[in-house]
Amino acid sequence: MEFLVAYASTDGMTAEIAQRIGQRLREADHNVEISEIAQLPRDFDIARFDAVLIGASVHAHGYQHRVRRFVVPRLPALRAKPTAFFSVCMAIASKDPGERAEAEEIPERWAERLGWAPQAIEVIAGAVRFTRYGFLRKAVMLAIARREMTGPVDPTRDYILTDWQQVDAFANTFAELAQARVARMRGVLPVAPPPG
Ligand SMILES: Cc1cc2nc3c(=O)[nH]c(=O)nc-3n(C[C@H](O)[C@H](O)[C@H](O)COP(=O)(O)O)c2cc1C
Repeated sequence: MEFLVAYASTDGMTAEIAQRIGQRLREADHNVEISEIAQLPRDFDIARFDAVLIGASVHAHGYQHRVRRFVVPRLPALRAKPTAFFSVCMAIASKDPGERAEAEEIPERWAERLGWAPQAIEVIAGAVRFTRYGFLRKAVMLAIARREMTGPVDPTRDYILTDWQQVDAFANTFAELAQARVARMRGVLPVAPPPG
């Protein structure tokens, strides 16, 4: 099958996760195009893909605007295919259950507001990369990390919070779901076994 993995990444972690998802899909013998949404032409056509995964990272409780601008004009096409959304953030790895619950709700609410109902939504812990932040972002992230992470936080190093097994399982599960759905849509598989 032909998969598209389109993502928006500000500091590079969603890009790494998108690459890993693409790698898993290729290992399962699928053809995969992986692209940062910013690199895609405005009129990029998703018609040739059997299934689409879109990823974005949470910054100040929201996603990069280009993700909405990519999704909205393509809603009719997205609704006709198996689709998934993966949300990369820090709060899902928080020690505070309230923060984790909020991290789960952000992508649900965002997709619902757009009128998009992906078959799968996955919330994945990203990274805190102090070495990449300027003065202001470093100060903000240090305050948040001290509140949410367990143990002392060292602002001179990076913290990768991603559970790669979760990423692999998400890619594999969605590939199977998409394959079954496409097969059903094409009438390859019977919807129910014949009686008797
Ligand atoms: C300025 C800034 C604001 C952030 N705001 C949030 C937030 O509101 N909620 C959250 O869960 N994570 C937040 N994060 C953490 C990012 O989602 C996390 O670092 C993620 O890995 C970024 O992905 P990217 O490298 O693909 O941009 C923030 C990070 C930065 C640098």
